Amino acid sequence: MKFFDREKEINKIISIIAGEPNFIYFVYGPINSGKTALINEVINNRLNRNKYVVFYINLRGIFISKYEDFIEVLFEEYSEDKKPLDIIKGLIKDIPVVSGIPIPKNTLDELLDKKSPKNVFKYITNILLELKNQGKQPILIIDELQKIDDMKINGFLIYELFNYFINLTKELHLCHVFCLSSDSLFIEKVYNEAMLDGRAKYVLVDDFNKENALKFMDFLAKEILNKNLSNEEKELIYSYVGGKPSDIYSVIDEMRYGELDNILNEMLKIEISKLKYFLEDVKEDNEEFYKEVVNYLSLFKENYIIEDIKIPKKIREFLIKKNILFLNPIEGTLKPQSFLVWNAIKRVL
Ligand SMILES: Nc1ncnc2c1ncn2[C@@H]1O[C@H](COP(=O)(O)OP(=O)(O)O)[C@@H](O)[C@H]1O
Ligand SMILES: [Mg+2]
Repeated sequence: MKFFDREKEINKIISIIAGEPNFIYFVYGPINSGKTALINEVINNRLNRNKYVVFYINLRGIFISKYEDFIEVLFEEYSEDKKPLDIIKGLIKDIPVVSGIPIPKNTLDELLDKKSPKNVFKYITNILLELKNQGKQPILIIDELQKIDDMKINGFLIYELFNYFINLTKELHLCHVFCLSSDSLFIEKVYNEAMLDGRAKYVLVDDFNKENALKFMDFLAKEILNKNLSNEEKELIYSYVGGKPSDIYSVIDEMRYGELDNILNEMLKIEISKLKYFLEDVKEDNEEFYKEVVNYLSLFKENYIIEDIKIPKKIREFLIKKNILFLNPIEGTLKPQSFLVWNAIKRVL
């Protein structure tokens, strides 16, 4: 799959990386807006390979139920008799993007036995320092960080991790740190976290605006269908799925063998059913709460974006958790997770 645009976001991230590490960066946005795709484009195609070594750790799809599971995904074990420094030199030469911090098997076992992240962090810092000594700038990226949000080891692991990231950025200026998440309640918590005040910054990767959504359709039509779409077709697609990259991709891809009207109606029908059954469950559970939910969701019949506090906290957080709404805590706004959800809200209510 070829990558489309995002020049603004790419330039921002490249500029951040060109500077000295100073902040933890949180890359946030609605589900399937293209955060992972963007960061992969940057690290695979847009960075000077002689300058950087990237540790990209994606927690998506990985079963993490305890501290040890998380530590294991951070590392890539090797069992040979090599010295860590040789491993690092190998890293520098061959692969600028790695999916785990190299560690000898025995060392990892020892670190896990200690049941404290302190020693783990010390080990990582030494590797990063070694890379710096070899003239490389390390970059650490953790995708889907919210997956360890409620994990405990002594205290909450996430706070230990944030402290460590502050140490790597603000204090040591040793390593760039990017954390990605689609979970807007997690981002809200991070944003309101006193310990991160003045130490974290935020990069929004939102669904495409209309102009770019239409261009993305042109781009995909040429790539996948080898033809151009008419303005009417593009406007129609936009009215159903808006600027959500994954939905636009899915429509155009299905156009290889399906009729546009059918594809769009099918997608909307599925979204409508999901919303209907969701509301049915809410109603069965608590009729009063259901009435409120319907009431507040109806605010979206007229608007795509509203101010967050227009919906009371309890209902707002429920709808965000259920992936009906996306909260942007930095802007203080709420909107449906996608145009499809928005269209379903307008039909069902
Ligand atoms: N700029 C882009 N160019 C091409 N495809 C994209 C782009 N952004 C997103 N996509 C498509 O949308 C899908 C969802 O994007 P992803 O990065 O997984 O979203 P997120 O990580 O924000 O949940 C990707 O698999 C990819 O097919
Ligand atoms: Mg992702």
